Amino acid sequence: MNYLKQVTHIDNVKLSEDGSSVIIIDQTKLPAKTEYLTLQTAKDFYDAIFELKVRGAPAIGICAGFGIYVLARSIEAGNYEDFYRQFRQYQQYLNSARPTAVNLSWALKRMEQVVRNNREKAVEEIRELLRKECHTIWQEDIEMCQAISKYGLSLLKDGDGILTHCNAGPLATSRYGTALGPLFLGKERGMEFHVFADETRPLLQGARLTSYELQRAGIDVTLICDNMASLVMKNGWVQACLVGCDRVAANGDAANKIGTSGVAILAKHYGIPFYVLGPTSTIDLTCKTGADIEIELRSPDEIKKKFYEHPMALEEVKCYNPAFDVTDHTLISGIVTERGICRAPYTESLAGIFKEQ
Ligand code: MRU
Repeated sequence: MNYLKQVTHIDNVKLSEDGSSVIIIDQTKLPAKTEYLTLQTAKDFYDAIFELKVRGAPAIGICAGFGIYVLARSIEAGNYEDFYRQFRQYQQYLNSARPTAVNLSWALKRMEQVVRNNREKAVEEIRELLRKECHTIWQEDIEMCQAISKYGLSLLKDGDGILTHCNAGPLATSRYGTALGPLFLGKERGMEFHVFADETRPLLQGARLTSYELQRAGIDVTLICDNMASLVMKNGWVQACLVGCDRVAANGDAANKIGTSGVAILAKHYGIPFYVLGPTSTIDLTCKTGADIEIELRSPDEIKKKFYEHPMALEEVKCYNPAFDVTDHTLISGIVTERGICRAPYTESLAGIFKEQ
């Protein structure tokens, strides 16, 4: 059976019909089970984002946009000031769930802007405008992913071997995904790719999500441990690396899942182009370089205990568990956005795509 359309058009995050909740696919349960969760309270949203039940920079932003709308509906306030004060509390709480992916604060700020720009309106009207805005955020992401997929595909040839890290597919976005988008689009057009998916320690997004999405879509995928990337590159099996991003600084330094920068260094060594794909909502010109990007640190248990029957290290052994690293812009062959492919010097090309709008 051909699941390509189901994979690329999956509803991983959506607002319920009556607007009272957000329904997500619990990504921590995949691939064993497709389980839907209904999120309603601020804690539901915070936990789902923090625990990576919903994950991937654009998907987190979409979920936060829908989420703060749901919460705004529940605010009991007779006047604008009360409404805005409680809205801000929810905004700050949701925003604190994960620091690195800029899409979270970006979507929440967009929603806040709607509230601030309409202070003269009745609270009921503001709520209606918020409903429209969160839908727009979602719709725009669909369009951005489709455009990124087209630009990304222009960089590839039929039969190419591709290496990807973590998961930047439909589950991490709205439709198609970013780094995986060109592969799905190519498949629709009859092209074949041979994809190596890094398993992506410690949370295994590559194994659990990327290989699942590609396999179901009928794309040739081979799962490898992260430390095998060098060998498959040396063997000549990789013609391009495609990865997503969580925050791109003004100079092109790109934060993405831990291990990404190592892949970029290997790619440079073997002369393989390394592309970062992401919507402009992931570009943060307020960060001058990658040094300004806050890197999320997560629990040692993710390294020592998660997925194991017994702990894989002594209780007293220290662990360092950064969730992201920053790939230096000098290692990046191109940053693929919905507005085109940016090339070095990134300080100019990235600023340029914002000016053109
Ligand atoms: O911690 P995660 O699973 O949210 O990290 C996700 C990534 O690093 C993705 O590559 C990134 O968000 C791109 S999503 C299109």
